Amino acid sequence: MSKAATNWEEMSVEELEKAVQYHNKKYWIDNATEISDPEFDKLVETLRTKSPESPVLDAIGPAGAGVEEDEASELPKIHHNPPMLSLDKCYDEDTLKKWFGKFEGDALVSPKIDGVAVCIKYDEAGNLVLGATRGDGTVGEIITDNVKNIVDVPTKISAGPLEVRGEAYMPRDVFHRKFAAKYMSPRNLTAGALKRKDGSKTADYEIHFYCYDVIGKEFDSEVAKFEFASEEGFTPVPSELVEHATLQSTYDRYAAERQDWNYETDGVVYKVNTTALQEAMGRTSHHPRFAIAYKFQGDSGQSTLRSIEWSVSRTGAINPVGIVDPVELSGAMVSRVSLHNLAIMEGLGDEDGLFLNSTVLMMRRGGVIPNMEKVLEKGDEKVEIPTHCPICGAETYRKQDFLFADHHDDCSSMKVRQLAHYTKVMEIKGFGQKILEQVFDESLVVEIADFYRLTTADLEGLDRMGEKLAQKLVDQIKDRQKVPVDTFLRALGIHELGKHVSKILAKTYTSMDEIFAMTQEELAAIHTIGEVIAKSVVDGLAERREEIEALLEFVEVEFPTQEEDDADQADTVLSGKKVLFTGTLEAMSRKDAQKAVESYGGSAPSSVSSSLDYLVIGDEDYEKFEGGWRSSKLKKAEKYNDGGSSIAIISESKFLALLDEAKAQAGEES
Ligand code: IVH
Repeated sequence: MSKAATNWEEMSVEELEKAVQYHNKKYWIDNATEISDPEFDKLVETLRTKSPESPVLDAIGPAGAGVEEDEASELPKIHHNPPMLSLDKCYDEDTLKKWFGKFEGDALVSPKIDGVAVCIKYDEAGNLVLGATRGDGTVGEIITDNVKNIVDVPTKISAGPLEVRGEAYMPRDVFHRKFAAKYMSPRNLTAGALKRKDGSKTADYEIHFYCYDVIGKEFDSEVAKFEFASEEGFTPVPSELVEHATLQSTYDRYAAERQDWNYETDGVVYKVNTTALQEAMGRTSHHPRFAIAYKFQGDSGQSTLRSIEWSVSRTGAINPVGIVDPVELSGAMVSRVSLHNLAIMEGLGDEDGLFLNSTVLMMRRGGVIPNMEKVLEKGDEKVEIPTHCPICGAETYRKQDFLFADHHDDCSSMKVRQLAHYTKVMEIKGFGQKILEQVFDESLVVEIADFYRLTTADLEGLDRMGEKLAQKLVDQIKDRQKVPVDTFLRALGIHELGKHVSKILAKTYTSMDEIFAMTQEELAAIHTIGEVIAKSVVDGLAERREEIEALLEFVEVEFPTQEEDDADQADTVLSGKKVLFTGTLEAMSRKDAQKAVESYGGSAPSSVSSSLDYLVIGDEDYEKFEGGWRSSKLKKAEKYNDGGSSIAIISESKFLALLDEAKAQAGEES
């Protein structure tokens, strides 16, 4: 093979396949690449274009190079003494406060860096002699040459012997500049960079190192330890000494500011400052009792609640929407946030209720839907719950978690929303908000079925409506009189009868009569439909039965054939994605998780391949993973990533967030 740039375009598929196999082996086995990574990508893309089904495309990476998993990763081992422990963790304020109750005095607070734990040893003369991964905490892998190529690790210090521990990470700006187009996570890339066979290659990744521990020298406090590390040329993890009273507010501040930092964080680490107190608190075999990590749930920021808008939903519930000062969450400005329903809004306040001008913590759960998490500081003006519908004036009442009203027939807000939803789902084009408001106000369309009674003459009387447009609208309605049954069901706007549940009904039943006859128990027995959803759907269909039957005079619904069933999938974040699970899942069984993936259009293979999209690690193992531990599935995935795949290695929590997103995309409304 020649080293000069080759014109891949001119090669036959067979030649391209040979070239891919050759260069893949050069990279993985011989550790002697002949072409650059971008050139290799070009080669692979050329083959993909000419022959998308080529089996060679699935064999890029170590497996395709013929390297046995363990052979490739066989690195010399080191025993950590003392072991590299993990951190105890918590997710809520109460647990954190309980921990604060265990000691008095200050704590050193630092961001929990989402990187890879590394230890570095220096000999008596102060020379760097060994670098290793954390491994399982007891046994790690030796990666000395790689560690020497970390940007801010000194290869010489004033004197030893000494061991320094900390977190290796890839700065965000480096990731965005060099790798974001091809890789999912700076963390995974860091792990890969540290295991490159040729240690000098690590330099290409511009990995940095935050030191958080020094072993082999006595210090009175964490602060003194960090000062020493700094004098020796290390960068201690950013930290501050915080007194007891402000420990919680420090977390909130970190949560709000962390988007601006040049490294990824997944929580806040609290460590008792004085060594004497640390020794008194002691350790378990898993973690020191004198430290804890409070983990972030999603991207967050602080804002001020200014007012509440009460919005009449299609289903008639009057739901609160919080209007807040604009705040940036995961890169987008948020100023309106659904507070979901009355009960959830009340839950945000104290026994006196929720107050305007409160400082609030805003978060994007799983990076997606903005949410008001909690009140950080109470405001001065109580939120009043409306006694009447803001649109039609009907008296409100409480029904479980919701504020409801028996809206007057002219409650335009609810009805117009219902009509808008119907036209949107049924793909009846041309009915914008203005037209819908008019046809409703003129009593031309009050019930959905009235759409089918509209004439061009009716419409021509409306503002700015010409003959042509009127005809077009009437044609639109006629054109969409025959629709798949799931589209029709979803268009009704019944609470919980979204895309996903509609599809299930369409697959399970063969006529509308059967759907009307189904019971709550029957529906709840179907996988992915819970009792609450089942009740809402069955009740909703019963309540609106007359109206639906009137509609069916005009609309012809079609039930899917078997083939359509098989081919049909809603478009969600999981559509077409391959998701593999490893470790024990806490929220659900692995089987259920696999089924859930499948029900949103993904597939759940049983082994790692280069085309895998997500590798989900149970939350407990994810902790170990963060500490450097790797199962064989994980090793394999990381190697594929190194070879150009982009397998996202995610925690179970992250997966649950994806599932929520898929659910939302499948039209399952909350
Ligand atoms: S203190 C017993 N401080 O998180 C270990 N650790 O999940 C005490 N980590 O193994 C470490 N940022 O690798 C400390 N600011 C920080 C940290 C940090 C990240 C890592 C560390 C540890 C893991 C536990």
